[in-house]
Amino acid sequence: MARRRQLYEGKAKILFEGPEPGTLVQYFKDDATAFNAQKKGTITGKGVLNNRISEYLMTRLAEIGVPTHFIRRLNMREQLIREVEIIPLEVVVRNVAAGSLSSRLGIPEGQRLPRSIIEYYYKNDQLGDPMVAEEHITCFGWASTQDLDDMVALTLRVNDFLTGLFLGVGITLVDFKLEFGRLWENEEMRIVLADEISPDNCRLWDAKTGEKMDKDRFRRDLGKVEEGYQEVARRLGILPEAGPRDMTGPESMQ
Ligand SMILES: Nc1ncnc2c1ncn2[C@@H]1O[C@H](COP(=O)(O)OP(=O)(O)OP(=O)(O)O)[C@@H](O)[C@H]1O
Ligand SMILES: [Mg+2]
Repeated sequence: MARRRQLYEGKAKILFEGPEPGTLVQYFKDDATAFNAQKKGTITGKGVLNNRISEYLMTRLAEIGVPTHFIRRLNMREQLIREVEIIPLEVVVRNVAAGSLSSRLGIPEGQRLPRSIIEYYYKNDQLGDPMVAEEHITCFGWASTQDLDDMVALTLRVNDFLTGLFLGVGITLVDFKLEFGRLWENEEMRIVLADEISPDNCRLWDAKTGEKMDKDRFRRDLGKVEEGYQEVARRLGILPEAGPRDMTGPESMQ
């Protein structure tokens, strides 16, 4: 690891001071946690894959005009990002019932939702990231109504785009979690996509077989966890150890 000032160590990543003011280096670890860190483990190679997958997805999103914190990948485990003021919310989008939606509301896992649902969770580990409503968010000042409008608009674009991108490589985007931050540029504030987009915070199922290729393999002890993450990268055409032949872009699937 490089010699630079560490600013924060989270469960899956470490943040270091970046080379220029307003930048950070995000280091992706192999550590994995689930159920509010009650379950801990490591997934060999996860950090390398998530760094690459998040780079790929954030770059594709930037191309369609979604602002993100991503600047560039530095090496196998690190990427340069813009430092933002993280909005303390996890924005979850659901297209198919799974996880807590199924367990809380009794909707069978795998049932396609009549329309996509957005949920908010307050980022607070001590409280176990509780689900909150717009009312709580604006009442306690975590985000303004305008911030929320911006986040919802971006979230819906991200969902539409990623749903299509994953479907193109034979993967159903079941649900995912986004984090946003405020970026200040000459007195102007913009909301941008932050953190990461990877199989750590997306549910990704094989479109034909329904096989899980995400952190649920770890949460539910399904085995072949690394293989799931690798398969996502392979289908996106970005498996790091693959030769140039495999680096040309997404593999099209019928
Ligand atoms: N561009 C950014 N600027 C500042 N902070 C960021 C940025 N992108 C992500 N972060 C924050 O960096 C941390 C990344 O580490 P990690 O994902 O391991 O944290 P975590 O253990 O999930 O903890 P947390 O509950 O804070 O998310 C998170 O707190 C995330 O909100
Ligand atoms: Mg995190």
